[in-house]
Amino acid sequence: MHGLNQRYTVRPGGRLAGRLRVPGDKSISHRAIMFGGLAEGVTEVDGFLEGADCLATLAAFQAMGVQVETLGAGHVRVHGVGLHGLQEPAGPLDLGNSGTAMRLMAGVLAGQVFDSTMVGDASLSRRPMRRITEPLALMGARIETAQNGTPPLRVRGGQRLNGLDYAMPVASAQVKSALLLAGLYAEGETCVTEPAPTRDHTERMLTGFGYEVKRDGARICLQGGGILSGGRVEVPADISSAAFFLVGASVAPGSDLLLEHVGINPTRTGVIDILRLMGADIEVLEEREVGGEPVANLRVRHAPLHGIEIPETLVPLAIDEFPALFVAAACAEGETRLSGAAELRVKESDRIQVMADGLVALGVDAEPQADGIVIRGGELGGGTVDSHGDHRIAMAFAMAGLRAAWEIVVNDCANVETSFPGFVATACAAGLEVAVEA
Ligand code: S3P
Repeated sequence: MHGLNQRYTVRPGGRLAGRLRVPGDKSISHRAIMFGGLAEGVTEVDGFLEGADCLATLAAFQAMGVQVETLGAGHVRVHGVGLHGLQEPAGPLDLGNSGTAMRLMAGVLAGQVFDSTMVGDASLSRRPMRRITEPLALMGARIETAQNGTPPLRVRGGQRLNGLDYAMPVASAQVKSALLLAGLYAEGETCVTEPAPTRDHTERMLTGFGYEVKRDGARICLQGGGILSGGRVEVPADISSAAFFLVGASVAPGSDLLLEHVGINPTRTGVIDILRLMGADIEVLEEREVGGEPVANLRVRHAPLHGIEIPETLVPLAIDEFPALFVAAACAEGETRLSGAAELRVKESDRIQVMADGLVALGVDAEPQADGIVIRGGELGGGTVDSHGDHRIAMAFAMAGLRAAWEIVVNDCANVETSFPGFVATACAAGLEVAVEA
């Protein structure tokens, strides 16, 4: 993807209006392929995100003998092979830019009879993997990382796994999910305790596939040795993709936008809470439940924002939305302070540093801190920023154009394809004047 790099040029000003549906939820789409592949029977997925990250998971399962039919427009049919039906892949599994794919699959691969290797792109190859390999090793898994705990991961098959009772040091749904997936293959019970609530799509989907998962407060447990039963998964629109539009419409005078069929799982809605604390006007309409996940339409209108101290309890519930939220803070009156968010430094890029650099380049007063940032809102100028190949940084700075004084150029945007195929067309249709050059 880095070969054909892309640059966004954003004309200053404008507003967002109309109605739109952003692509399917990335977290749920990954899990639909994995659980569908490991289930007995056929799983039909609607609303699947055909972005590079989820397609990497799909290709990895195909490489292990799972048949997947792509029937177009987010409709895929996964022919499950059962928990013990995967086959040894012919070569390394390439997970591209996707930390979710690599970490969750480590839990699955730890339980197989065959050896496997997972590799990723330059960004993924810098991301920490000991957070999963260490607890998996406690279960009996054998996984080697590179010397500094980064990919590639070499997974030795044929190990007997035992249940584990693990208190996670970081609030990570990826770690929780990797352990629960390995727990499917373990003898006895596997329990994970989270230090703060994290997204619970794994628990919900396991339940949807007929697998018993028990939650007692912050502790989630399952017994190994059961089976998953395939069925239907309906993937809502991704609130993490909707977030760019929630911010864009909030900051651009005259905006009034309806975002359709957005997943509003309470472990994902921190972005709405934070924006509302800043003064945003977001209405949650037509709440309903679809396939075990809550969904709603979100109406967002422009409102003057003010700076806040972001409550630390909301950090894991908005973990992917901070690039967009930092742009909101830059457009807000007064100071916004974030702390307790050191995890942002080990995402697809170091999101604290890269966002601070970009905001400063646009003339904003932004001070990075070890575990957060301080942003003093005001006028945005314009200029050139670098996304460092991070999809969410690219989209966040595109939205900043709505309030810029002059043009913004965003470099290294090709990875927007990982989570939001069609972003430029969707954003233009809503009113952002953004052009893309190869
Ligand atoms: C994800 C969990 C989060 C999030 C990532 C997707 C998931 O990561 O940042 O984009 O699907 O489980 P952590 O759990 O590592 O915070």
